[in-house]
Amino acid sequence: MPSLQETARQLVSKGTGILAADESEGTIAKRFAVIGLPVTFETRRDYREMLFRSREAMSQYISGVILTEETLKQDAADGTPFVALLADVNAIPGIKVDRGAFEMPGTKGEKITEGLDGLRQRLKHYAEIGARFAKWRGVIAVSSYAPSRNGIRANAHVLARYAALCQEAGIVPVVEPEVLADGEPGDHGIERCAEVTAETLATVFDELRLAGVDLTGMLLKPNMVTPGVRSADRPGAEVIARRTLDVLKAHVPASVPGIAFLSGGQSDEAATANLSAMNRLGEAPWALTFSYGRALQTAALLAWGGDARNLAPAQAAFAHRAKMNALAAQGEWAPELDRAA
Ligand code: 13P
Repeated sequence: MPSLQETARQLVSKGTGILAADESEGTIAKRFAVIGLPVTFETRRDYREMLFRSREAMSQYISGVILTEETLKQDAADGTPFVALLADVNAIPGIKVDRGAFEMPGTKGEKITEGLDGLRQRLKHYAEIGARFAKWRGVIAVSSYAPSRNGIRANAHVLARYAALCQEAGIVPVVEPEVLADGEPGDHGIERCAEVTAETLATVFDELRLAGVDLTGMLLKPNMVTPGVRSADRPGAEVIARRTLDVLKAHVPASVPGIAFLSGGQSDEAATANLSAMNRLGEAPWALTFSYGRALQTAALLAWGGDARNLAPAQAAFAHRAKMNALAAQGEWAPELDRAA
């Protein structure tokens, strides 16, 4: 078995990034509603099979895939296990192990992520069936009264407990504290995002150290520092890159091998442009890449529309976004390349 460090490094190796395909049943239902597709075991399978069989995207630009437990155990329509399809394109299987974010008592609408009970046994099982990395998402809301110190600390604490359990099981933890850009009201400016992201990351790394997590055997999956989606403030990629790197450099130790961003409701092109601008600055001690859900999948989902006859255009749309983000992970993306497709 490769070490935690080897797996972490492979997940962020040059010109590759992670596909987040771990939408819960509720979230995939929202995505399928856009194309008018009912949500069943089979439609979820067909959609994910379309992505995983996109050979160009998967074999060249995707290092690993975050799956749900269902997908980790699922077979393609012809009976080939999905984990075998992923092995065929050299993509590492990962698994979302949290059980969702729920209302946190003592706060005004903040959330705490659940899923620690029984996690040690579950991780052992996931490792046996092929998972080599995991994800846990903590959600940090931004409003005039949130996040509270309590909300940040509680989420940071469970992220650290999750990460320590993963490493014990030989699984690389992807630690995801998401400061929401698309929460309510979502009208905060970039300054407020910078402040909340800084406090969140400082607290998360405090807790990781206290929990004895080996920072060389994990990855961080943060938000970029951006205004809320309903803010009038619309800074360009250079500003977002500068603000994000400043916060990360202040709070993320250089021993962390890589940072793989979430897209968080940014447009496909903005998520790519911002990542490229960060890599162009060339100052990061860690690899900086993507772990996108929506920004990698939306174009492919729309092109597919739930119809097997659209397989080729859907896979081409996925390959295009994956390639653009792979270029961005090297600071080599340009808008002309995107439009030339
Ligand atoms: P988005 O890139 O769509 O934000 O999803 C990434 C993810 O894994 C959220 O947990």
